[in-house]
Amino acid sequence: MVLAPMAGITNAPFRVLCREQGAGLFVCEMITTRALVERNPKTMRMIRFDESEKPRSIQLYGVDPAVVGRAVRMIAEEDLADHVDLNFGCPVPKVTRRGGGSALPYKRNLLRRILREAVANAGPLPVTMKMRKGIDDDHLTYLDAGRIAVEEGVAAIALHARTAKQHYGGVADWEAIARLKEAVPEIPVLGNGDIWCADDALRMVARTGCDGVVVGRGCLGRPWLFKDLQNAFDGSPERARPTLGEVAGVMARHAEGLTGCFDIERYALADFRKHVGWYLKGFTVGSELRRELATAESLDGLRAGLARLEHDQPWPPNTDTPRGKSGERAKVLLPDGWLDDPWDCPVPDGDAESDISGG
Ligand SMILES: Cc1cc2nc3c(=O)[nH]c(=O)nc-3n(C[C@H](O)[C@H](O)[C@H](O)COP(=O)(O)O)c2cc1C
Repeated sequence: MVLAPMAGITNAPFRVLCREQGAGLFVCEMITTRALVERNPKTMRMIRFDESEKPRSIQLYGVDPAVVGRAVRMIAEEDLADHVDLNFGCPVPKVTRRGGGSALPYKRNLLRRILREAVANAGPLPVTMKMRKGIDDDHLTYLDAGRIAVEEGVAAIALHARTAKQHYGGVADWEAIARLKEAVPEIPVLGNGDIWCADDALRMVARTGCDGVVVGRGCLGRPWLFKDLQNAFDGSPERARPTLGEVAGVMARHAEGLTGCFDIERYALADFRKHVGWYLKGFTVGSELRRELATAESLDGLRAGLARLEHDQPWPPNTDTPRGKSGERAKVLLPDGWLDDPWDCPVPDGDAESDISGG
């Protein structure tokens, strides 16, 4: 099982909470290759791991084969991680408009060159890739990309079974995961999209034959989902059903971890704000207390609010439902003429790497 890289979410404190639930890969937030090779201070902070994290997984995003190669070499030579994942799934218009993110695999030869440079510079580190089905239903790329990945020595592929046009809307097309599994029998295929509870993961494996699952939004506000997954894969029916008091304990630890990460307590609490609604989803908590928790500016303030929650309130039923991003896009912005030739190899300019987040 794999914690999906999520920009702004999967920093070390959140990864530690997920990792202590069971064995798997817990991938860091996406790092742009240019910022890494330039040793941007913020980027260097983002690749700090907790000492309990083993193996350490870094997800890279890059568009220029040479820069990707340098970034991977830096990771290998400086022992910055044990595994490198490459992100080709970002649907953000700012990025696809320049040929980056989920627009990139359409250019088969550019994809091949990036993968080749990454693998050639990785030394003993496994290189994996994460991608979407394609740009839209008329421009699917995942099967070609899968074959290219095998030919270039990629160790495993994760498929977010949506197109860029789908963004996070609709439902993930698990059939596509099954088709990729058939197309690349040589390496593990990890299925991704719409796992909201452990039984979804069992269903995905049964339906697609995938070798593992990648879980994103399903674990927002519930890092213990990884314990459920571990139990499910071990054949146990046991599922975590924390009381509100137990959830409050996890929230406090999460916020404490973030203060270590952000240095300035107020910034950490501001970052924690988005998690509050996810943690409390389904529980009965008054709007005033919810607001107090979401706007706390200090750990003490947060703890005071958490203490006022009704601690023995049981886990609410029927809360294994979508959370986080959703919604479809009318169209995918692409550079002029991008779809004319799948085989030419234009390297997008550096702007395709600036201000990017998401996958
Ligand atoms: C807030 C957020 C940030 C994300 N950031 C990244 C990212 O940096 N890299 C990436 O490959 N995918 C990113 N994704 C996509 C997820 O990794 C995952 O592929 C997607 O959410 C589908 O899986 P899910 O249905 O389990 O959420 C992000 C998703 C969300 C919701």
